[in-house]
Amino acid sequence: MDSAPFSCLQVFFFLALVRYFSCAYVHGAAPTVKVGNFSKVEDAGNFHIYYGQTFKVIKNAADGQSYLLLQNNSRIASRTKYCTSRIKSFVIPLSNCSVDTTYFPGLLESLKGITTDNVASPCVRKLYEGGQIELFNNSDYQKFAEFSSYFLSDTNQQPACNFATFAPSMEDNPLQRAEWIKFMGAFANVEARANQVYTAVKENYLCLAKIATTRTTFKPTVAWMRYKNGVWSFTQEKYQLKYVQDAGGEILGANKNTYNVSDPDDLEEFHAILCTVEVVIDETVTSDPANYSLTTFIQNLNVEDRSCFSFISNTSLWRYDKRVQNSVALDWDNGAVSQPQLALADLIEVLFPTENYTMTYFRNIAKGEVPINIGPEMCDRDTSSAMEPTIVACG
Ligand SMILES: *[C@@H]1O[C@H](CO)[C@@H](O)[C@H](O)[C@H]1NC(C)=O
Ligand SMILES: *[C@@H]1O[C@H](CO)[C@@H](O)[C@H](O)[C@H]1NC(C)=O
Ligand SMILES: *[C@@H]1O[C@H](CO)[C@@H](O)[C@H](O)[C@H]1NC(C)=O
Ligand SMILES: *[C@@H]1O[C@H](CO)[C@@H](O)[C@H](O)[C@H]1NC(C)=O
Ligand SMILES: *[C@@H]1O[C@H](CO)[C@@H](O)[C@H](O)[C@H]1NC(C)=O
Ligand SMILES: *[C@@H]1O[C@H](CO)[C@@H](O)[C@H](O)[C@H]1NC(C)=O
Ligand SMILES: *[C@@H]1O[C@H](CO)[C@@H](O)[C@H](O)[C@H]1NC(C)=O
Ligand SMILES: *[C@@H]1O[C@H](CO)[C@@H](O)[C@H](O)[C@H]1NC(C)=O
Repeated sequence: MDSAPFSCLQVFFFLALVRYFSCAYVHGAAPTVKVGNFSKVEDAGNFHIYYGQTFKVIKNAADGQSYLLLQNNSRIASRTKYCTSRIKSFVIPLSNCSVDTTYFPGLLESLKGITTDNVASPCVRKLYEGGQIELFNNSDYQKFAEFSSYFLSDTNQQPACNFATFAPSMEDNPLQRAEWIKFMGAFANVEARANQVYTAVKENYLCLAKIATTRTTFKPTVAWMRYKNGVWSFTQEKYQLKYVQDAGGEILGANKNTYNVSDPDDLEEFHAILCTVEVVIDETVTSDPANYSLTTFIQNLNVEDRSCFSFISNTSLWRYDKRVQNSVALDWDNGAVSQPQLALADLIEVLFPTENYTMTYFRNIAKGEVPINIGPEMCDRDTSSAMEPTIVACG
């Protein structure tokens, strides 16, 4: 579970936002043969949607395939079925679906099948515990075949006719990742709702970024770094670098990305470079987030003299595992993908603290903050209603 395999639970957050995406059935939005509402992909680089009278085509760069989405009440849907290496057809709106939840599983009321029970969404948790979902083994291919579609993020999986690759993680920036809500929307004829959610998220994100990046104060230098097998590395994830830029910070410009703490030359250089950093985000993967503290970080660091580390003396040492379920599923890998405006607001607070803001995803281990375990009791909305994106006060 290293280097955060892209979580399928994201699908649930995208689903929760549109709600009547419904892997089950569409209430309200009666499908018409004529497609009246369109989603235009504005930012995402890895999928496109084209519209015909009774069908849609999604071109998905994630798996190099085209999905032909056929309206269920059209003649073409009853006559046509594609399953080739380049084209697959789906009858929409989907009557049901399942999601690959190998790493960060989850579910929604309308979802009928999942592959593990570690779920970062409290509402999903509640539904699961209420028995509204089936848990199945992710190597049970026969089981997958029972669903109209199976959404997965792993592009290396053995392909099957009902598999659709959902891959926001391939995008370079946070808004592009969030725009995959339109991909989900197309399968359910809920383009209008997907457009509305994305527009609200984007406006809020851009507003926050505008204020943050026009600050005239000094820009703190930020390092995203993780430790594994004796080696520290600085992130090269483009979306993370973009977050720092949009929050008004500077990314650490190190000469190299990996430093072996057992190599004296490496350690010396690592020590020096860290002296130039104001904010550290420690992404080290752990099976026990509750036990990952400042002490753990210092042990992993292996540097004796920490006197020049302002991120320690000035208590700005963070992790994005504030919200975690069963020590495994991080909300950062899930909710934060569909709601990047919240992640950005957190980072702005990390960089320019007001002390009058409640973090959603980040905890400060230099201040001894501990993770919150996500449980079903935290579900504070009616699970049958759409989740609204959380809009952060801006301006
Ligand atoms: C498009 O969406 C709007 C808002 O949901 C709805 O009022 C309208 O009827 C839809 N148009 C068509 C042709 O489906
Ligand atoms: C098409 O899907 C809608 C919504 O799920 C359903 O109500 C309708 O019966 C379906 N029509 C056909 C012809 O399958
Ligand atoms: C899933 O199926 C595989 C292959 O049949 C088996 O090895 C594995 O133990 C199963 N996993 C669970 C959690 O049952
Ligand atoms: C999913 O929907 C299809 C088409 O309506 C149906 O044949 C299948 O049995 C359903 N599968 C499940 C698991 O509900
Ligand atoms: C780190 O350096 C030590 C000492 O030079 C070496 O034994 C070890 O294999 C290195 N680790 C990695 C991951 O390169
Ligand atoms: C976590 O920390 C507690 C208290 O220090 C300890 O008892 C427990 O064994 C630790 N858990 C793990 C998995 O290391
Ligand atoms: C310490 O943090 C404050 C914000 O909390 C910031 O204004 C200040 O510049 C920081 N000092 C250093 C040395 O990084
Ligand atoms: C703290 O935030 C609240 C709500 O955003 C605001 O009403 C209040 O004025 C803020 N307090 C300070 C001291 O900035």
